[in-house]
Amino acid sequence: MAAGGFRGHVPTDKKRLVDIIPVESKPNEPTSPVSFDDAVTDETARIAALEDVPDDTTLLFTVSDADGEPKEVVLSRLSDGAVVAFRNYCQHWTDARLDGGEGALVRNGEVVCQKHGATFQLDSGYCDFGPCEGSILESVDVVVDEGAVYLDDAYSFEHLGGSGVASDGDSANRIDFTGS
Ligand code: FES
Repeated sequence: MAAGGFRGHVPTDKKRLVDIIPVESKPNEPTSPVSFDDAVTDETARIAALEDVPDDTTLLFTVSDADGEPKEVVLSRLSDGAVVAFRNYCQHWTDARLDGGEGALVRNGEVVCQKHGATFQLDSGYCDFGPCEGSILESVDVVVDEGAVYLDDAYSFEHLGGSGVASDGDSANRIDFTGS
């Protein structure tokens, strides 16, 4: 017998064992997420210059939803410089606007519904006084970049100012906390 060990061929069935070792599967590589910079470079989402956003009242603008329906939004700046946005209706009577076009009443960091006096904390939208106490305003996402405020929500920006629609509430619900 020749020295040097086994010189025969690898049996076919053993080759197959090697062949069928599964290749480690890897999940799909994630696609590059849309970066913040990409999102805000869309000038169609630009609402206003940061310096035009008041901290003592609200700036009213109009967006449209996926069905093209106009919706009003109010924008305001907090004492720490952060910018917040909420849909322009009270949680008590949803056909009551917070900002009728002249800017909402903002006092001590709260927006006041002038219909029945409910107050909503601007940093959270939380109602801490009034007939809808405990409710929360519907927030709208915005971002600030390079001195401008951009819409960062499912809505599309339309224009500054009101929608021109008589009532902006989603369903004109009137939550009758007061019995009136
Ligand atoms: S409608 Fe706003 S407090 Fe009643």
